[in-house]
Amino acid sequence: MSALKILVIPGSLRTGSLNAKLAATLAAELTQAGSDVTRISLADFPMPIYDGDLQAKSGIPKTAINLKRMMSSHHGVLIVTPEYNASIPSLLKNAIDWVSRVQDPHEARGQVFRDRAFAIASASGGRLGGSRALMALRLILTACRAQVIPNQLSLPFATDAYDDKDRLKQPPDIDAQDALVRQLIEISQHMM
Ligand SMILES: Cc1cc2nc3c(=O)[nH]c(=O)nc-3n(C[C@H](O)[C@H](O)[C@H](O)COP(=O)(O)O)c2cc1C
Repeated sequence: MSALKILVIPGSLRTGSLNAKLAATLAAELTQAGSDVTRISLADFPMPIYDGDLQAKSGIPKTAINLKRMMSSHHGVLIVTPEYNASIPSLLKNAIDWVSRVQDPHEARGQVFRDRAFAIASASGGRLGGSRALMALRLILTACRAQVIPNQLSLPFATDAYDDKDRLKQPPDIDAQDALVRQLIEISQHMM
């Protein structure tokens, strides 16, 4: 069987992003567990704010088609999102909105969400660890009819969550990380 390919998408472009750091940590754990991991930045897929008139006039941006195809070439997708005002950042929502409009030949629109496993994680400096963003992201992906795995990771007090090798140091965080990695691999393998 070919190696399981997992795409990791951080939902923040910020220098020093807590979510980019968590995405890197989870990517390392997924690699350690034997998957072939690609970690991208949404900075490489710039898109205008979704507007139906713009889509009618100019079509879907090539960057959205590229992101959709990047997702299609992986068996599983892990999204690591910040929490903005109890939801997900517009950067991430906009990318999902555009990708959900892409229709490649011989595919239904939005099929990219249905054919692979999705996992979600979040980090925040506060006590809630971005858990409300995870609720919002799960709802959005489920509306796209994605298979979102039950396990998720919300990392509270994220500035103090790592050891000096950038690994999670608190047992509950490590347990949640391991459970998420294990389940993402297991469900992605079943969907291959
Ligand atoms: C517009 C905005 C809204 C925010 N709302 C929340 C929030 O609702 N809950 C929360 O825990 N943190 C909130 N924060 C703080 C972010 O979680 C924090 O800045 C986090 O570090 C952003 O993720 P990043 O480090 O990956 O860029 C907000 C930040 C911004 C800029």
